[in-house]
Amino acid sequence: MSLKAAAAAVRENAHAPYSNFKVGAAVRSASGQIYVGCNVENVAYPEGTCAEAGAIAAMVAAGEKVLAEVYVIADCPTPIPPCGGCRQKLKEFGKGDVKVTMATTDGDEQETTIADLLPGAFDADHMERS
Ligand code: THU
Repeated sequence: MSLKAAAAAVRENAHAPYSNFKVGAAVRSASGQIYVGCNVENVAYPEGTCAEAGAIAAMVAAGEKVLAEVYVIADCPTPIPPCGGCRQKLKEFGKGDVKVTMATTDGDEQETTIADLLPGAFDADHMERS
């Protein structure tokens, strides 16, 4: 299955009764395996989680920690950009040149990279002083 098909399929499982905005994400890890996630909202709104977070959690739970490619899809006017928190989560597990495809359910796609999504990112180097 393609990343696109995997993301579109898992989007259908999103739990989004409060926003009515379903998001699907699929990531391919360094091993070539695909992991998927959808947004899971909660009546206590801040407790909801994003699709990208779910896909990353599935990858890590399976014992993998390296992102090779990312695909995110939603029913929106322009390809869905990952939220700020998800950009930092992607950066944790993917090098800057990892391709991120943002898509609409109408078939519009826009390609970017983790580095372009999060310029000036905070990382472990910033905690070193020597
Ligand atoms: N959402 C995601 O799943 N990923 C993003 O990158 C943007 C936002 C979800 C969170 C919430 O359930 C809904 O979209 C509306 O913000």
